[in-house]
Amino acid sequence: MAQRIGLLTSGGDCPGLNAAIRAVGKAAGETGDMRVIGFMNGFRGLVEDRTMELDDHLLSGIITHGGTILGTSRDKPHSMLIDGKIRDMTETIVKTYKRYHLDALVCIGGGGTQKNALHLKEAGLNVVSLPKTIDNDLAITDRSIGYDTALGIATEAVDRLHSTATSHSRIIVVEVMGHRAGWLALESGMAGGADVILIPEIPYEVETVAQAIRKRAKKGKHFSIVVVAEGAMSRTDASRVEKLVRRKDNARSKADKEEASERLRDFHEGHVNHTIELTRHLEKLAGQESRLTILGHLQRGGTPSALDRSFATWLGTRCIEILKKEQYGVMLALQGTELRAVALAQVAGKKKLVPRNHPLVQAARLVGTEFGD
Ligand code: F6P
Repeated sequence: MAQRIGLLTSGGDCPGLNAAIRAVGKAAGETGDMRVIGFMNGFRGLVEDRTMELDDHLLSGIITHGGTILGTSRDKPHSMLIDGKIRDMTETIVKTYKRYHLDALVCIGGGGTQKNALHLKEAGLNVVSLPKTIDNDLAITDRSIGYDTALGIATEAVDRLHSTATSHSRIIVVEVMGHRAGWLALESGMAGGADVILIPEIPYEVETVAQAIRKRAKKGKHFSIVVVAEGAMSRTDASRVEKLVRRKDNARSKADKEEASERLRDFHEGHVNHTIELTRHLEKLAGQESRLTILGHLQRGGTPSALDRSFATWLGTRCIEILKKEQYGVMLALQGTELRAVALAQVAGKKKLVPRNHPLVQAARLVGTEFGD
């Protein structure tokens, strides 16, 4: 009997998702006995029974398209907004899975998706997941779909900002995405020859950054490019967060834990526009006109890079091989030059952050890049 596979994309969209959908669909078609049913808008599609038949016609020509033809959402199976209330929809999802007589569900997504995939595996579904995130922060895998394209976009932005910074003798602060990880800022900053790179893993002192900029000015370099990860933090903020995390982890009562969690949430919500403040500070401390560019969702839009297309195709086709072998409860991870199936439990809830002594950080320091520490 033909194998019936459900497929969804979940979490933030990014370029390369369509290449992965195409690869899963086409490789399944080639087997002659696999049928792929697309579920729309992430896990919500399984709740609302919104599907899309992934026939050959639909899969044609999408490898170059950004976004995802299946739509996406950040909905979690166990905590979904339904009719104005947060509900656990796991049971509904299991019922949909059974009603469609699915043999497996393929989930393409980032950190949140891997946790949700594990949750559904524990609820009894056969799940295989593929890594996707522009943040590059998924544990165990060296690469995730979307990162290469986002890196290219951020690097091009840094390149373009150089000429305007030079012409006006200004400091230009560029905020790049990455959630709580600094990969995108580190690599786009390095590739674009940024003078300062600020990442969450290396808390900074604003005076140290200003000092480096003043030193450049003394040498006749009257402009500076400062690439900042959206999650970067001053030392003061980082120690505040550390204390709250410790308080949450060591909380003796549920109430204490909830309070610490709420404070942490408040901090991160309030931190959203920290680069505005940083830019103002630098202008004052370095005595140089400053401007801020927030790249935001630009980094997630448009055509995928060649690397993201080929990587997504590799992942999608390998996924079909895994499904044929009925190897479930795994995520496909790139390790060196190999794609390996790793247990979801090894990935879910873990983050790959930039180690402070990572060779790339060392290389950036060796060419004079300031990290503000
Ligand atoms: O995880 C991808 C990402 O783009 C992060 O870099 C960013 O913090 C977040 O998603 C933004 O999410 P949203 O699109 O939901 O605002």
